[in-house]
Amino acid sequence: MKFFIDSANMQEIRAAAAFGIVDGVTTNPSLVSKEGNQEGFEDLIKEICDVVGGPVSAEVLSTEYSLMVSEGKKLAEINENVVVKLPMTEDGIKATRILSDDGINVNVTLIFSPSQALVAAKAGAAYVSPFVGRLDDVSSSGMDLVLDICEIYGHYAYETKILVASVRHPMHIAEAARMGADVATFPYKVFTQLFKHPLTDIGLERFIKDWGKT
Ligand code: E4P
Repeated sequence: MKFFIDSANMQEIRAAAAFGIVDGVTTNPSLVSKEGNQEGFEDLIKEICDVVGGPVSAEVLSTEYSLMVSEGKKLAEINENVVVKLPMTEDGIKATRILSDDGINVNVTLIFSPSQALVAAKAGAAYVSPFVGRLDDVSSSGMDLVLDICEIYGHYAYETKILVASVRHPMHIAEAARMGADVATFPYKVFTQLFKHPLTDIGLERFIKDWGKT
């Protein structure tokens, strides 16, 4: 499974990349705005691409498909690793088809149902992003959606990768891996939580203490 960091914060991205186990980055307008970096958006995406060396999702803000296409083409020119992120709307799907046919990788975001994931795959999306945490927030199972998409894609030869998004905790990632999802994208905080288990800390402390006894 590939690990992407869901962040627009360069400090977090650099810190995560330093472990050598991060394969890419996803951003969205909310994350960019949180960093107060709307003006320098293109420079930010360029900098992320320089640090990570893998797919970097950059989202368009237009909602009309021909504008999405021109915005997407501009973003794709920043770096060959840029993946254009488009929302799961009718216009988003038209734009996905056009950009994909043009050789540009598209991540269709805001996926909340299996039928949306099917449509995105048919339009040639490189990635679909089911938002598991936001479904859990409204008492619907996000991981059931991932399982459904894995099953559906398993029947066909779509090249679309399942990118599990809106991840809130390590169990989402472990479950997604168990289901065979291709990628999980998660915040830096969840990245650090992946490493931790209290028994590891207790075990290490005991080893060091015992070694000191002899
Ligand atoms: C994915 O690409 C999105 O940026 C992200 O995972 C959304 O997560 P949230 O529901 O925590 O905002």
